[in-house]
Amino acid sequence: MELLAERGDFPLTESWSYLNAANVALIPMCAATVITDWQTDLALNGSNNFDDQAEDTAFDGLRIQAARLFNCRPEDIAGGSSCSELLSSIAWAVMPKKHENVVSTDIVFPGTIYPWSRVSHHTGSEIRLARGHNGYTSIDKVIGAIDKNTAVVSISHAEYTGGQLYDLAALAEVTHAHGALLVVDATQSAGAIPIDAPACGADVIISGSYKWLCGPFGAALMYLAPHLQGNLEPGLVGFRSHKNIWDLSPDRLEYPDTAKRFESSTMAFGCIKGLEKSIEYLVDIGIERIYEHNMKLADRLVEGLNRLDIEIVSPPDRAERTSIVTCRVDGWNPMEVVQELKKRKIVAQKRQEFVRFSPHLYNSEADVDRAIAELRSLLNG
Ligand SMILES: Cc1ncc(COP(=O)(O)O)c(C=O)c1O
Repeated sequence: MELLAERGDFPLTESWSYLNAANVALIPMCAATVITDWQTDLALNGSNNFDDQAEDTAFDGLRIQAARLFNCRPEDIAGGSSCSELLSSIAWAVMPKKHENVVSTDIVFPGTIYPWSRVSHHTGSEIRLARGHNGYTSIDKVIGAIDKNTAVVSISHAEYTGGQLYDLAALAEVTHAHGALLVVDATQSAGAIPIDAPACGADVIISGSYKWLCGPFGAALMYLAPHLQGNLEPGLVGFRSHKNIWDLSPDRLEYPDTAKRFESSTMAFGCIKGLEKSIEYLVDIGIERIYEHNMKLADRLVEGLNRLDIEIVSPPDRAERTSIVTCRVDGWNPMEVVQELKKRKIVAQKRQEFVRFSPHLYNSEADVDRAIAELRSLLNG
């Protein structure tokens, strides 16, 4: 199997089997260097280098790389500090009314729905969560919850527990037929699953940086469909919300007619530049290639776990899967399994009563084989 990444780009992979991208992915050294260099330059030179113009254009490089990632225009991209921040700004911007509802699932990552819950405390809108089980909700249940009063379908493209993947185009079709917006949290998919933002029909796609995009904490990005760029008033605003950030007129706020209107404040700019570099790194390799690579590793994990008779709760159907492979190790406390694996330099994660493996581009078949072999020796005592 071809190695997609140079070992030196991810030094930890020389000695550890790091199967934990769904929690925190490794950052390629080229991106880590961009972040520390930016911070060091600020310490040494202050605004001599990071001047007004540099501050104004700080997100432009991210826009270019994220446009390659999502097959959209740079103007369709906004940067921010976290998925929760950008989603909160969207939730307050849309602000579903009292008689309206927001549809999601009851296995969704809490951060994907809490911003809508907060708005619903204010307006009295209804939050409708389609029932799931073992980290899985059938898309039919989500679609079944949508009705004429639905204002928003807010979904995690890939569910964080078992990696279930939703068909965005299918959801967009039904959502739009009801006059609602499809708002997608792609934190568990962007960087690992090809996403064509305009083609899939989503109105908003938001992703954090530190998982499959292999970026740092403190950065996030958002795709905003063109039809929302001229009329959606951001829920969070600050001096960068003005279309000319150096206009500095406290008596007027004119938003840009692009996704940029959702950028509101200064932030850890070095982190945005690190995210820009990570996305460039991934897109240069090719998201389609990364997807195929990761799925081969996931298939190998599934085969290995099946041989050990360990119950897998991630969906079996390829169209509904990501490279997240989640299992229940009968008779074992999942935390104990994760800790024992860590002693053997294998990193997985406990989520609810499960053990979750999440291989990414820097992993190889050897990492999967080691994980399976160590699990076998653990179970055999
Ligand atoms: C689906 C999903 N969205 C968002 C996040 C994190 O959000 P934030 O960027 O606000 O930390 C996670 C983290 O586990 C996640 O799984």
